[in-house]
Amino acid sequence: MKNYIKADEWSIIEEGFDAHHHQISESIFSLGNGRMGQRANFEEAYSGQSLLGNYIAGVYYPDKTRVGWWKNGYPEYFAKVLNAANWTTIDVSLEGEQLDLAKCAVSSFTRQLNMKEGYLKRNFRARTEGGREVEVEAIRFCSMADDETAAIKYTITPLNFSGTITLAPAIDGDVVNKDSNYDEKFWDEVSKASRPDGGYVVMRTKKTGFEVATGMKFSIVQNGKAVQPPAEAVVKEKYIASLIKLQVQQGQSVSIVKYVANLSSQNHPVQKLTENLELTLARVSAKGFDTMLAEQAAAWAKKWERNDIIIEGDVSAQQAIRFNIFQLNQTYTGEDDRLNIGPKGFTGEKYGGSTYWDTEAYCVPFYLATAHPKVTRNLLLYRYKQLGKAIENAALLGFKNGAALYPMVTMDGTECHNEWEITFEEIHRNGAIAYAIFNYVRYTADETYLADYGLEVLIAIARFWSQRVNWSANKGKYVMLGVTGPNEYENNINNNWYTNTLAAWCMGYAMEVAEKVKALAPEKYEALIAKINFDEGTETAKFKDIIEKMHYPYDDDLQVFLQQDGYLDKEQILVKDLPAADRPLNQKWSWDRILRSCYIKQADVLQGIYFFEDRFDTETIRRNFDFYEPRTVHESSLSPCVHAILAARLGDEARAYEFYLRTARLDLDDYNNDTEDGCHITSMAGTWMSVIEGFAGMRVRDGKLSFQPFIPEKWASFSFHIGFRGALLHIKVSKHGVQISNISDKPADVVVYGKGQVVGPNSELTINKD
Ligand code: BGC
Repeated sequence: MKNYIKADEWSIIEEGFDAHHHQISESIFSLGNGRMGQRANFEEAYSGQSLLGNYIAGVYYPDKTRVGWWKNGYPEYFAKVLNAANWTTIDVSLEGEQLDLAKCAVSSFTRQLNMKEGYLKRNFRARTEGGREVEVEAIRFCSMADDETAAIKYTITPLNFSGTITLAPAIDGDVVNKDSNYDEKFWDEVSKASRPDGGYVVMRTKKTGFEVATGMKFSIVQNGKAVQPPAEAVVKEKYIASLIKLQVQQGQSVSIVKYVANLSSQNHPVQKLTENLELTLARVSAKGFDTMLAEQAAAWAKKWERNDIIIEGDVSAQQAIRFNIFQLNQTYTGEDDRLNIGPKGFTGEKYGGSTYWDTEAYCVPFYLATAHPKVTRNLLLYRYKQLGKAIENAALLGFKNGAALYPMVTMDGTECHNEWEITFEEIHRNGAIAYAIFNYVRYTADETYLADYGLEVLIAIARFWSQRVNWSANKGKYVMLGVTGPNEYENNINNNWYTNTLAAWCMGYAMEVAEKVKALAPEKYEALIAKINFDEGTETAKFKDIIEKMHYPYDDDLQVFLQQDGYLDKEQILVKDLPAADRPLNQKWSWDRILRSCYIKQADVLQGIYFFEDRFDTETIRRNFDFYEPRTVHESSLSPCVHAILAARLGDEARAYEFYLRTARLDLDDYNNDTEDGCHITSMAGTWMSVIEGFAGMRVRDGKLSFQPFIPEKWASFSFHIGFRGALLHIKVSKHGVQISNISDKPADVVVYGKGQVVGPNSELTINKD
């Protein structure tokens, strides 16, 4: 755990340069706009430890699988988010001496991520080994208003000398992925050009053939005046730069503005890439840096209007929740149904491909409440479009008749994961995809989605479950053998309660939706069952039989659901009784020891209770919570949020807050010592859930929003917006009670502390706490 980020409501601030923190900061201070993003690498050269990272959404490379022992059914490739051309570089040389903070005495240093307006700013004063002292200010952003563009303004002032400063803005396509399996380079050069005021590099990914044109155009301002000093073009393999030599007087500054565009063949015809790149660069450079920055602030203001959570009375909590919301918005904007949300977003390479069950289980609630429904619809459509591949994936494992198994990790629908205990066994992910459809329809009431897309996915998933279970003559029940639940700290277990529960629910929901579609859109229903050969009578009879006779492990003495058949055979020592030196287990214990232990990585039974909360009375929830939480080590960032929500549901406000703190500042405080790999983007949605579903107790029940709010002791108030079926509500929770303002023209039915109320259009409702 670190504590070097300065508390501030709207900014993430690092003061003083500590090279040990540099890679963590490169993750935390990352920038993105949904279309592209990057780690906070320095513009000038840096010879210290650094992880270079520039990423283009949806552009990936299928890296050949590397495993110790090949198993039939493993995918041949792992599609990886690619490190793309580096456009940040502006090399600086001071009378021939390279500016490199790793080799300088840095007397002052501030890095600031301005979340309100969406830019990164760095100021420093440094003295080189040769004794030259400079002051630098660097501002850069990835434009939200014009998402193929970015800009950097880099200002340098010599403090103790006059002389030649050489600036070398560059585009470098010769980059590697740290996680490349065979040290292979993933890009080939297509073309490049260097001109006095800029240039470009066009790169093509091997195998997948994506082309990305990355270009720059720059302008220089010296003593407040635009100048055009002679520039020498440097052209190397996959690389272009311009060497700009400037005579600078001591105390006078010179600025370079580097306009950048990144165009990919996903959005432009290949033969038009460079032409469109030039047009884009001409457009943004004509606009100018200040206008672009103002547009950036306006685009972010619009986002914050709907997304912000305001916490009064706790600056650290305020900063943290905004950081989470900021990063989620930088990662995914919902405009494009070919894109998804990677666990690390644009902040690192770890986890490779972009899509995990994290999206459906954790991110969907955030986007449903804070964005237009089309955003979640696009996330669902992403999976719909990959249904064919999910069916192929299941067929590869021996499933038949249009059964679909969605991948554990994917970019384009193909399974990328290659550890048998996860790829073949962590199949609960399939249920999360069905659950997201349910969640979307429950929230938006958009039933047309079911007829057009949803039902087809639901039947394919139900078919998978109906084939994955088998009849146990011994138990007289259907069982599901050899699975891994969300708790990846035990594998190849039988009858994971969560997976069995979800599977049965999926089959039931598929049948319910089939009936609904049959009634609402009979022609579409007929067309669909013909398309997928759905033998309604036989297949639903099988679903029903399984639902009725599914085995759910349960312990009568403890009266808790059992995580799996053999869970109680494990030695039961609570987490609190483990020596502190043994934690985190995944870094201290052998994998074998972890697998045989009772310790739980993340919510498992409790994940099921969270999904299907309304099925259980409070005492059942309490018993299961009290049994499982003390055995949970929360070594997945996805864990604390579910516990925060359930603790809140049980009225345990202090614990709800404790779990919230673990998720909210996870990256800012490098809680798990792994932020340098990238930020935990998908778990950030969990932080949002902890506040909205935890502290505010928001649920959707019977087509209405309901709230059961409380306020953490340290906070004076918290407030947020929720969009629901055309109404926009502003909710403020304070020590005195709750105030709900309807700032739309649609009346909203709400339930607060169990009591139904209508908040009329443009009116307010205040409920005081007794
Ligand atoms: C978790 C998974 C999750 C993945 C990506 C793993 O550590 O156990 O549930 O899908 O990380 O976030």
